[in-house]
Amino acid sequence: MELTYKKIGCTELTEAHIGQETTLAGWASTIRDLGGIIFVELRDKTGLFQLVADPQVNPEVHEVLSKVKSEYVIQVTGKVSKRPDETINSKLKTGTIEMYPTNVTILSAAQTLPFVLEDDNVSEDVRLKYRYLDLRREKMMNNFQLRHNIVKAIRNYLNDLDFMEVETPILIKATPEGARDYLVPSRLHDGKFYALPQSPQIFKQLLMVSGFEKYYQIAKCFRDEDLRADRQPEFTQVDMEMSFVSQDDVIKMTEGLIEHAFKAAGVEVKAPFRRITYKEAMEKYGSDKPDTRFGLELFDVTDIMEQSTFEAFKAVIAKGGTVRAIKIPGIAGYSRKEMDDVRNLAISFGAKGLAWITYMEDGEVKSPVLKFLNEDQVKAIQERGEAQKGDIIFFVADHPKIVFDVLGRFRLYFGQKLNMIDESLHDLLWVVDFPLFEQDLEDGSFKSVHHPFTMPALEDIDKLENDKGNVKSIAYDIIYNGNELGGGSIRIHDAQIQEKVFHALGLSQEDIQNKFEFLVNAFKYGTPPHGGLAIGLDRLVALLLRAQSIREVIAFPKNSAAKDLMTDAPSLASEEQLRELHLKLRNLPKV
Ligand code: AMO
Ligand code: AMP
Repeated sequence: MELTYKKIGCTELTEAHIGQETTLAGWASTIRDLGGIIFVELRDKTGLFQLVADPQVNPEVHEVLSKVKSEYVIQVTGKVSKRPDETINSKLKTGTIEMYPTNVTILSAAQTLPFVLEDDNVSEDVRLKYRYLDLRREKMMNNFQLRHNIVKAIRNYLNDLDFMEVETPILIKATPEGARDYLVPSRLHDGKFYALPQSPQIFKQLLMVSGFEKYYQIAKCFRDEDLRADRQPEFTQVDMEMSFVSQDDVIKMTEGLIEHAFKAAGVEVKAPFRRITYKEAMEKYGSDKPDTRFGLELFDVTDIMEQSTFEAFKAVIAKGGTVRAIKIPGIAGYSRKEMDDVRNLAISFGAKGLAWITYMEDGEVKSPVLKFLNEDQVKAIQERGEAQKGDIIFFVADHPKIVFDVLGRFRLYFGQKLNMIDESLHDLLWVVDFPLFEQDLEDGSFKSVHHPFTMPALEDIDKLENDKGNVKSIAYDIIYNGNELGGGSIRIHDAQIQEKVFHALGLSQEDIQNKFEFLVNAFKYGTPPHGGLAIGLDRLVALLLRAQSIREVIAFPKNSAAKDLMTDAPSLASEEQLRELHLKLRNLPKV
């Protein structure tokens, strides 16, 4: 589209334009002065284009361009010409053409930038402080172009299926997704607070009560949780909900969405994706987001250890615990120091200890727990782990939750360390049949694994009262290369079941009334069976780009301390603002 200041984008010019006059505008990227002749690489959103100024050809233009410094914004007019053979740059899209401008206008001067755009080793703090400059870099521009292309593909896909995009509010009453809420104090209502949505969960369900049937939203969500590479306090979900659906319907719809989104990133994946149960995921991979691009599967040795004379393991088993093992191939030669490091690693993951059996290359079997095992037991373990000479089998005994967590992380550690992961794979799978609740190991209370609106498996409804730990849910997560891309569930659409679940979570009638009265009421007015799913958009894009962190695909992210280094948020409020909001600080902040 022709604009007042520019007719065409830099890299939209081709050899077909040779001889034609045009006007470009952008940033002076690299400037080289070769004994009078000045070469400027003009950069705009589309890429680079070479300008040349020769004092012999056009002294005025040469005069203006000689004043132009790096990152000045300029406008140039002139004829596109073919480059002489010796200056052809095959790396550049416009490498065979150039322009000797007949007119150059400086639209905006630029100070020296705090870092060089081509430097890939600038610290992240500096990049985030000057994010608007960081985003000028080609790599970042490409990240956001891809993000845009993916969102476009997703919107097209959902629009074609007759989904309706609806915005839901940001100032709300808390939606429980298990993280801490961000609160916003109310000026008009002394002592009261809005919460920012952890997700649009309740609203999308209410839209189903309203009869919208197919909803989506590219939705901002807010969670005050500890940040990691794949988490931000505010992030974006592709949030969806449908009425009259079963789990299979939601899965099928999502698979099509993933195919389209991946295609926008140039990756072909083919649905249906594999499904494994939560139980299998935990037992084989020690994780509910298993990386199945490599083996190293865990195995159960509880029955063998129960027959041993190792009291530490037997005590764990007697208390209902489990003993699981993992075979790591080819590391029998580890030194004592290396084994200490491995043990410390397991302990840092939460293990009480780490036992192992080493199958030495020379046939010797070594183990700190060998004295507790008879020959048959050693053999049974070796067979179960299919251990060869040179391998080590490691054991962890504890509550299943701890054992799986430790060995799952252990597995990932060795998978990476031993280069067992093929990074070129696109491994997509569903984890299904999640438990409805998980029990807190400390206080014994039950919490929702997903959220309290998740439908229990119909055959487990009568366990809601007395056997909560064994209630399965109709919930599913989509996993990509060992990362949780998204998750969802079929929801409870029956007020009585919802009430039972609230009770199972230990909510009193009063709590239910206070927190969810509107929802419980809404369900009394004719609610269709419904379900949905949300995909973490930032994660999806970051994973497709193989980026180090989701910060690489969020225009203005917070750093790992949840600060915006550019705007300096969060920042202090004035006394006046606090008074208006009826707030008094407990501790005076450090300025
Ligand atoms: P859930 O809590 O699993 O489900 O979130 C869905 C997806 O959102 C992404 N995600 C995040 N991305 C970046 N930073 C974060 N802090 C963060 N937290 C979550 C993940 C995750 O898989 N309402 C339900 C969905 C539903 O049931 O329909 C929900 O929010 O990729
Ligand atoms: P001990 O007899 O307590 O010295 O333990 C013998 C070995 O078993 C040591 O290598 C311990 O680290 C290991 N061990 C002890 N408790 C556990 C446990 N719960 N899980 C795995 N290994 C353990």
